[in-house]
Amino acid sequence: MDKKKIVFSGIQPTGNTHLGNYLGAIRNWAARQAEKTNYFCVVDLHSLTVPQDPENLRFQTRSMAAILLACGIDPQQSTLFIQSHVAAHTEGCWLLNCVTPLGWLQRMTQFKDKSARQESVLTGLLDYPVLMAGDILFYDADEVPVGEDQKQHVELTRDIAQRFNALYNVEFFVVPQPIIPPVGARVMGLDDPAVKMSKSLADKRGHAVRLLDPPDEILYAFKRAVTDSGREIRFSDDPEKAGVNNLLGIYQAVTGKGQAEVEADFAAARGYGDLKVGVAEAVIETLRPIQARYHDLMADTAELDRLLAHGAAQARVISQPKVDEMKRMMGLVLPR
Ligand code: AMP
Ligand code: TRP
Repeated sequence: MDKKKIVFSGIQPTGNTHLGNYLGAIRNWAARQAEKTNYFCVVDLHSLTVPQDPENLRFQTRSMAAILLACGIDPQQSTLFIQSHVAAHTEGCWLLNCVTPLGWLQRMTQFKDKSARQESVLTGLLDYPVLMAGDILFYDADEVPVGEDQKQHVELTRDIAQRFNALYNVEFFVVPQPIIPPVGARVMGLDDPAVKMSKSLADKRGHAVRLLDPPDEILYAFKRAVTDSGREIRFSDDPEKAGVNNLLGIYQAVTGKGQAEVEADFAAARGYGDLKVGVAEAVIETLRPIQARYHDLMADTAELDRLLAHGAAQARVISQPKVDEMKRMMGLVLPR
């Protein structure tokens, strides 16, 4: 049998995890855990690159881990851990800093965008992609599932890996591939079906369905969803009907039905009102068991922390020897 591919997923504990994240990413990760060797890392150190409230960051970090577990990430099958629990990430980041030209980082579009919006730019924000490269490279990951916005960072990771391999004349790092979900897999904003549902817009009521939203809030968001002035309930790529198409797509994704079956379910609907309530109910039912598991996990953080300590121990066994070997290659004296 071929060796299983290694997949590294990094998730920022920013809160506002929404239906798009679940349907476009987390659910698929959970469903395919057995096919690959998976690392799921809550990247709290990356969150420190912009100002954070300490208590909130601590809460969001555990909350993100609990969401992943509630959505079906199985710690028996996958390694789930918090980035800052594994010192190899920061230690190895320094080593990678010392082979990464500054110009490569100054060219990153996310750095340019984020730094243009801030008065004082932290060094960590510039260095963010090197920390991310380490996350990926210290586990020999073959695949990195990311949104389009992170593709450039995975390309930089490839450049850093190749540069290191060339400098030391060995195939030490695996050169990873970004895995980008297809556009059709996107969940769009309920208030504006021309933009994708996103964490940064999710504080605006009616834009997103957040995984932890209570049922009445979910119903509210769907009832206010933007549609069109017609009354035809069918899949369509007409931009005019993007709202209805998005609602049908969400319904299809949560029920697992085919397109014809989905349209048949709404054949007797008396208008978009019925469609909206039907989709809301299907989403509420899908999220109900996830929310119940989430609240159980957050009610007993001792058990959650124990699971995370186990994940960190597993992660250290892989990444620390890799970083130690880098140190040796780069001319550092290893302690006895
Ligand atoms: P982000 O929210 O940008 O951190 O994205 C985390 C993951 O969720 C990425 O793999 C994205 O591709 C996926 N994702 C984010 N927003 C959506 C969306 N609106 N529809 C589908 N997938 C999404
Ligand atoms: N930068 C990624 C994001 O904002 C998060 C991340 C950090 C990551 N380390 C990673 C993603 C490693 C994939 C692999 O979404």
